[in-house]
Amino acid sequence: MVETLGRVLVVVPTYNERDNLPMIVERIRAALPEVHVLVADDNSPDGTGEVADGLADGDDHVHVLHRETKQGLGAAYIAGFRWGLREGYDVLVEMDADGSHQPEELPKLLEALADGADLAIGSRYVPGGKVVNWPHRRELLSKGANLYTRVMLGLPVRDATAGFRAYRAATLEKVGLSGVESQGYCFQVDLTLRTSRNGLRVVEVPITFVERTVGKSKMSGKIMSEALWRIGLWGVTGLPKRLRGGGHH
Ligand code: GDD
Ligand code: MN
Repeated sequence: MVETLGRVLVVVPTYNERDNLPMIVERIRAALPEVHVLVADDNSPDGTGEVADGLADGDDHVHVLHRETKQGLGAAYIAGFRWGLREGYDVLVEMDADGSHQPEELPKLLEALADGADLAIGSRYVPGGKVVNWPHRRELLSKGANLYTRVMLGLPVRDATAGFRAYRAATLEKVGLSGVESQGYCFQVDLTLRTSRNGLRVVEVPITFVERTVGKSKMSGKIMSEALWRIGLWGVTGLPKRLRGGGHH
């Protein structure tokens, strides 16, 4: 199945994940021995970048992109995708470093692409999807964010903020990365919207999201407020078209 899709690159953004990174890279390599991994590290003060270099030294399927400063998850993914497109990968995958996205579930996402999806989202909120070990308030926040997104944008997606995804390279090329300004987690909604508005096929695959046991989430008030205002703005600017019945499909 991986063969028919071509070369797959899993981009893993990291900020202070030294105690998680070896585990996730090992699990990716074990679950799908052909795929390549790119660690996109924002010069983590805890030395994650050096840990990544160590992993890359011993494995020609592991690569590292060192970035100078912390610029947000979205910016790290854009840099990682650009690297992957330049190197000629056919599929670009997003995966957190903390174990929340299980590499063992990646084949399901790749199968959805092989079946014709242009973007496959590992979804917590379709039947069969789950979240394990999230505090009640984080679950409320995530569901609230998805409800807000659906109301503002009319996107036919249950989990538009999900961070476990597989894109065809052609999807990213068509959508274009140069106009993407989202820096934080609203990058996920941004690319979902752009993919859908380009008439491309978005498919949600149920996954189990497992909250991290090691290290800390980087979610913050600043990240939430960026998502609130940007999604609100996209909603308002897209509204005239929706009222005319233009839709996003
Ligand atoms: N390079 C880089 N720069 N990496 C970052 C940055 C950054 O500024 N911020 C976060 N990361 C990395 C983390 O190190 C981790 O590997 C991954 O991005 C996810 O960060 P977490 O802080 O663990 O995210 P989360 O668990 O709170 O949020 C998850 O769920 C969200 C939806 O509710 C992520 O999957 C998000 O992508 C998703 O939108
Ligand atoms: Mn996490």
